[in-house]
Amino acid sequence: MDRRLFNQLMALGAGALGVTTDGEELQAAEEAPVAGRATPFRGREQEPVNIAEVRSLAQRKMATATFEYVDTGSMDELTLRENIDAFQRIQLIPRLLHGVSNVDLSTTVLGQKIAMPIMLAPVAGQAMYHPNGGMAAARAAADAGTVYCMSSSVGNSVEEIASASKGPKWFQLYVPKDRGVTRQLVQRAEKAGFKALIMTVDLGEWKDADRRNKFALPKDMLVKHLRDTGFDQITDAMSYQEVLDFNSEAWDLSLDWKFFEWLRKVTDMPLIIKGVLRKDDAQMAIAVGVDGIVVSNHGGRRLDGMPATIDMLPGVVDVVRGSAEVYLDGGIRRGTDVLKAMARGARAVLIGRPYAWGLGAAGEAGVSVVLELLREEFENSMTSSGFAGVADIDKSLLL
Ligand code: FNR
Repeated sequence: MDRRLFNQLMALGAGALGVTTDGEELQAAEEAPVAGRATPFRGREQEPVNIAEVRSLAQRKMATATFEYVDTGSMDELTLRENIDAFQRIQLIPRLLHGVSNVDLSTTVLGQKIAMPIMLAPVAGQAMYHPNGGMAAARAAADAGTVYCMSSSVGNSVEEIASASKGPKWFQLYVPKDRGVTRQLVQRAEKAGFKALIMTVDLGEWKDADRRNKFALPKDMLVKHLRDTGFDQITDAMSYQEVLDFNSEAWDLSLDWKFFEWLRKVTDMPLIIKGVLRKDDAQMAIAVGVDGIVVSNHGGRRLDGMPATIDMLPGVVDVVRGSAEVYLDGGIRRGTDVLKAMARGARAVLIGRPYAWGLGAAGEAGVSVVLELLREEFENSMTSSGFAGVADIDKSLLL
């Protein structure tokens, strides 16, 4: 996505045009006259130059309760803030006269080549941020040459996401208590072409804003989500309360490590565990044979008071010793954050809120801009540090 075009899109308030495909949005951006169109952005300089500015655009565009659902963290948001503060505390001290003119940002994750070590994390409810929801985000990831991690709560079926994008995709599973439904869902994801399965295992969401806003999925979205999961017993005739009651009983919140043995039997996809902070948990994950570990505290949306992921990363990398790939998410807002995570041993990073903001601000175009901003910043930070390729980044860069 060309930034000039994005600028036009924002000036037009494209996401508010009520169009149904991003192709049509772009068309609209090129053809429609700018003057006279009702938009919260008209007449202002809209082109965001960083993720914080994309966030501001999203805030103006999205319904308050939806924006706050994306933006906020649990309780006092200690962990949410710490994720960001910890990155800002890290100082970089590159060596002089190691200039590079061309940098190669590409790497591999689980054997898949990607254009840059920045992937899209699983994020729920994307149809609430933009009508094209997860399909738009998946297309933007494919366009940028990176992995789209589909949340099992994204608002689309695995088949819909697969049909929207031929790019690399991983599927994140929340586990239905009914193991028949779980098995079918995992196998549908595999058949649809997803290349890895992410198990998110951290619990404890308690967000004041959502409680204040009484934030809940609208009935039609919840019904679709449950049906997409494979709960065929959900019917249109059910009342909203009946669907809510079903939903509150449907999911297994008491998993243990044995679940990975079960998963191994139902799928050949590589397994990734998301939510690891402790060394002993990382060791257990290796013992049950995972292929990847995401060092994550769910972006500060789970138990408040947990430490920053970037500070837990070195301990995990240490005990894993190359037995699995280690990724990190939480607090990535700048290309320099990507560099810092790589210097502390991450193979790649994932972003959550930044692309949800992009989606809320301008659909697929907004996600593309977020990925492009981070790509440019990361490229600049590699050039400034004298690294020609991502495999060269090491901790000698850190003070
Ligand atoms: C999330 N996250 C998440 N994780 C997951 O495994 N399944 C999910 O359905 C969701 N849903 C979700 C919704 C929203 C609105 C957000 C912001 C996040 C967590 C996500 O994958 C990731 O761990 C964090 O977002 C990373 O932190 P940053 O990048 O948001 O700081």
